[in-house]
Amino acid sequence: MRKKLQYAPSRRIVWSGLKCALVSAFVLGGLALLWFNSLSESDAIKDARRMLRYGEYSGPDRVAFLFLARRNLPLDFLWGSFFEGAEEDTFSIYVHSEPGFAFDESTTRSPFFYGRELKNSIQVKWGEASMIEAERLLLEVALEEPANQRFVLLSDSCVPLYNFSYIYNYVMASPKSFVDSFLDVKEHRYHPKMSPVIPKNKWRKGSQWVTLIRSHAEVIADDEHVIAVFEKFCKRRPPIDLSKGKLNYKLQKQHNCIPDEHYVQTLLTLKGLESELERRTLTFTVWNQSKTSTETRGWHPMTFSYADVRAEKIKAIKEISHINYETEFRIEWCQVNSTSVPCFLFARKFSRPAAMRLLSEGVVAPFNVASLLE
Ligand SMILES: *[C@@H]1O[C@H](CO)[C@@H](O)[C@H](O)[C@H]1NC(C)=O
Ligand SMILES: *[C@@H]1O[C@H](CO)[C@@H](O)[C@H](O)[C@H]1NC(C)=O
Ligand SMILES: *[C@@H]1O[C@H](CO)[C@@H](O)[C@H](O)[C@H]1NC(C)=O
Repeated sequence: MRKKLQYAPSRRIVWSGLKCALVSAFVLGGLALLWFNSLSESDAIKDARRMLRYGEYSGPDRVAFLFLARRNLPLDFLWGSFFEGAEEDTFSIYVHSEPGFAFDESTTRSPFFYGRELKNSIQVKWGEASMIEAERLLLEVALEEPANQRFVLLSDSCVPLYNFSYIYNYVMASPKSFVDSFLDVKEHRYHPKMSPVIPKNKWRKGSQWVTLIRSHAEVIADDEHVIAVFEKFCKRRPPIDLSKGKLNYKLQKQHNCIPDEHYVQTLLTLKGLESELERRTLTFTVWNQSKTSTETRGWHPMTFSYADVRAEKIKAIKEISHINYETEFRIEWCQVNSTSVPCFLFARKFSRPAAMRLLSEGVVAPFNVASLLE
């Protein structure tokens, strides 16, 4: 009897424990099912991608070159010569182009680009959030290769100013990302409604052309909150349409915040990572300050012509050792891991004749006539 009395409660405890476990398993299972169903297919793919990122790799670290192109790569012949000077397993190439555009024998002269287009690319509208979406897609795909340790974002009009080994050693020697980032005092691109996700004192401006270390590439690819705020509040200001009368006033008040000049620098600042940045870009640009009346963006990059690519001019760009940030009274002496270095590794915008001249002057690789005749 005693035994039974002792036994019974304990069995009851076991049973109720079991029931409890079963019920919770049931509830949890149901919740998991609901959650799983609520994920869109692309979320499932995203998660699978994230799992891929942490693989082991043998062989050297790679630099991922990420090209944002409108369509083809007009300067592919120059980049082709550049990559010829590299060991095959020290770099990766990814291109975001318009949806459906494929790089093959008929669209590029450099086999390095064959099949390197993103299969999930989107239609990019210059000056809108779709541009930073495209950058994030590039980073996400490049993160699938665990050997990719540096991520260099480039436009279709960018050129290298050095050979591959010089650029590889420069970016690998830096434990920091290169992100141009400064306080934006004159412009009125910050929208008060971005707060509290983006407080005004974390709003930064800078060049879109960044070079990232892997942990920063992950922060950007994984961001869901800050990108959503950019998508919501960065609308392109439409041109004035007289037939709309007074409505123009409202339309013009919509914020034209140029997401690509703010997103990466603002996000990394929000995450407290500013101390892990060399706060400058590696891409040299000449700004044309003359402004037309319809211009909303103000300055425009100038395009290098054949005549601009004189040896002295390229030498002068390569000798730049510091940058003056007027809004912050800051002079940035260009350094990598505390050693002085030239500020710029790349330049834009280059026309094809200008890029030809750069190639023939042997700037990116020893010049080989055959590369122009193909
Ligand atoms: C690459 O360029 C650097 C600096 O301009 C030079 O010292 C080096 O010899 C070049 N390397 C090759 C393989 O051409
Ligand atoms: C940076 O410099 C330190 C000291 O000179 C050195 O130990 C370290 O390896 C360097 N970092 C990189 C990434 O080269
Ligand atoms: C600078 O911009 C103005 C106005 O957009 C244009 O007319 C001029 O050709 C540009 N100059 C150069 C050198 O690109």
